[in-house]
Amino acid sequence: MEMKIIFFLLSFTIFELSSAQLRVGFYSSSCPRAESIVKQVVQQRFRTDRSITAALLRMHFHDCFVRGCDASILIDSTKSKSSEKDAGPNLTVRGFELIDEAKRNLEAACPSTVSCADIITLATRDAVASAGGPAYNVPTGRRDGRVSDSSEVNLPGPSLSISDAAQFFTAKGLTLNDMVVLLGAHTVGVAHCGFFQDRLSDFQGSGKPDPTMDPALAARLLRICGAQSRPLNRDPTVFLDQNTSFIVDKQFYNQIRSRKGIMQIDQELALDKLSAPLVSRLAANDALFQQSFANAMIKMGRVEVLVGRAGEIRKNCRVFNPTKPKGRTG
Ligand code: HEM
Ligand SMILES: *[C@@H]1O[C@H](CO)[C@@H](O)[C@H](O)[C@H]1NC(C)=O
Ligand SMILES: *[C@@H]1O[C@H](CO)[C@@H](O)[C@H](O)[C@H]1NC(C)=O
Repeated sequence: MEMKIIFFLLSFTIFELSSAQLRVGFYSSSCPRAESIVKQVVQQRFRTDRSITAALLRMHFHDCFVRGCDASILIDSTKSKSSEKDAGPNLTVRGFELIDEAKRNLEAACPSTVSCADIITLATRDAVASAGGPAYNVPTGRRDGRVSDSSEVNLPGPSLSISDAAQFFTAKGLTLNDMVVLLGAHTVGVAHCGFFQDRLSDFQGSGKPDPTMDPALAARLLRICGAQSRPLNRDPTVFLDQNTSFIVDKQFYNQIRSRKGIMQIDQELALDKLSAPLVSRLAANDALFQQSFANAMIKMGRVEVLVGRAGEIRKNCRVFNPTKPKGRTG
């Protein structure tokens, strides 16, 4: 009898411990179709909108870098509280409606089981694979946070030096090399002119374009962007990878090695002695890029995650669950 109780307590403890960390297939018994439900939504969207890969990559990055990968980026602001979405650098994060659609389907199949933070992670993984990138297993078991505050958003800007930008990554337990590989995400997607316009005609007051940018590219971008800044909603965009703009491949690194980086930080990756050696290895070897990118994405997806009983499983990714009068809130 006593043995039984001890065994029960022991197995309970083991269960608690093993469930309190991320693992591949976390939902395999609680919601066996979880990963396929997310994949179906992503693949369907990708067929009509290939830009969804870029949207999700950026969403995942911004989510993980504010308070860990906890879906705090998905929370809508209320009249009294401005959430991460409303912070300056949120800017142009998009793809929220795809997360909503996946969540609706998941709630229908297994209510209150799959976290919004895991939906972002899985959807990003599937969108990367759809766009010719690596297909990788990603650990799940994240829980959703209960805080989203626009004043906490502090993300690196596009004109930082490599060593200054790297500090944002090391603060999250990632390395400079991880940053070089993760910036390979700029192999897809766009930037608004306002993020690189300073490079096109009067770089640092020189009256000339940034000398590290290919002059033909600078001239072409100046025709698209003009010299005047515009409000974000009327600012034109250009592809970050001017060659294979919708494909997750090593071409971004070839582009920056040919002085075709759009944002200053992208161009500096190829020039700074801290990052240039890895950039040239990645540019030369797509298999190395694909493997490194998958590993770095998995690592980014572990940043400051909530597990076990921390946080909650949101029912609606845009709002915190109502707090029960007395119950546990984690
Ligand atoms: C030092 C680090 C980084 C800086 C300074 C940076 C900066 C930026 C900026 C300014 C934009 C343009 C946004 C716009 O015009 O709307 C952008 C776009 C983008 N970023 Fe980054 N980024 C960084 C790291 C990352 C990482 C780690 C990822 C993902 C793993 C990522 C994925 C993307 C993607 C996919 C886009 C295109 C978004 C779209 O087309 O909607 N970035 N980034
Ligand atoms: C991002 O922040 C800006 C500026 O604070 C705000 O106007 C905009 O609505 C926000 N974007 C999203 C998608 O919520
Ligand atoms: C563009 O990408 C293709 C396909 O990966 C590659 O073969 C070609 O060399 C690239 N062209 C330029 C100008 O970088």
